[in-house]
Amino acid sequence: MKTDGPNEDAAARNRRSWNAATAAHNRHKLDQAGFLKRGGSTLFPDELELAGDVAGRRLLHLQCNSGQDSLSLAALGADVTGVDLSDEAIAFARRLSEESGITATFERSEVCAWLERAASDGGRRFDVAFATYGVLGWNEDIDRWMRGVHGVLAPGGRLVSLEFHPLVWSFDADGRIVEPYFLEGPIHEPGVADYVAAAGDGLTPMGRVDGVEPFENPHPCVGFQWTVADVVSAAIGAGLVIERLVEYPYSNGARVRPDLVDIGDRRYGFAEGTPATPLMIGMVARRD
Ligand SMILES: C[S@@+](CC[C@H](N)C(=O)[O-])C[C@H]1O[C@@H](n2cnc3c(N)ncnc32)[C@H](O)[C@@H]1O
Repeated sequence: MKTDGPNEDAAARNRRSWNAATAAHNRHKLDQAGFLKRGGSTLFPDELELAGDVAGRRLLHLQCNSGQDSLSLAALGADVTGVDLSDEAIAFARRLSEESGITATFERSEVCAWLERAASDGGRRFDVAFATYGVLGWNEDIDRWMRGVHGVLAPGGRLVSLEFHPLVWSFDADGRIVEPYFLEGPIHEPGVADYVAAAGDGLTPMGRVDGVEPFENPHPCVGFQWTVADVVSAAIGAGLVIERLVEYPYSNGARVRPDLVDIGDRRYGFAEGTPATPLMIGMVARRD
């Protein structure tokens, strides 16, 4: 398979793995076009609060997967471009846009290569770069990713990032620390899992069906652990000005630790009496 950047190995593997996983994820979701058409949204209040009013903004949705959040943002009046590595995800997003009647542009590419092309070819610029829920950890070079984001932001434009906190992957079901937080280098995993099935109703506000269970992804994947300091330093190094950093004691959509309990509104948090640690982290950073 042809790949399009120096992330060659990781990107080629992850493209295959995400193609398989994305099809499995979407099989759980009921009538997505109808849900969006009726005014449904897949967004959580937290990313909307970080992003502020997106109406009329040129919004770049980084690693947008199948475009449900992209189209929910477009329905709020943003002029959305979504970029993702996965063929399956981009094909799905384009169909969903057509079937829901909500307009957005979707481009398939390795993200760092796309950002560099966009910044140089004709100087495409955006008011908001939106990156949420499982984006940063797929990128081999966080400094390059941040430089790429800086390169496509218009002056005054903002990166809005909301991620699962990198600390969550260190704990086991009993709250013991079993994985190092400071994990260097590529992390080889069996394949992108069917986390939609594992999320209960957390990722299916449109309604849920069983889909193909159990799903076994035949394609292994590669991830990267970026600590809070790695991410913040990359943003500063790229020339972005950090306006906000927020830590949250709950996770949206996904039960990121097995000991978390359903706290309503498609969120998972700590059972009463359990000391809380951060489960998500948000960042807003501006290009001056
Ligand atoms: C957890 S999903 C992000 C979900 C997304 N925020 C949404 O709105 O549904 C991670 C996405 O990153 C994409 N991805 C992984 N590596 C990438 C890369 N190097 N370039 C572009 N996209 C990539 C995957 O294809 C996948 O769709």
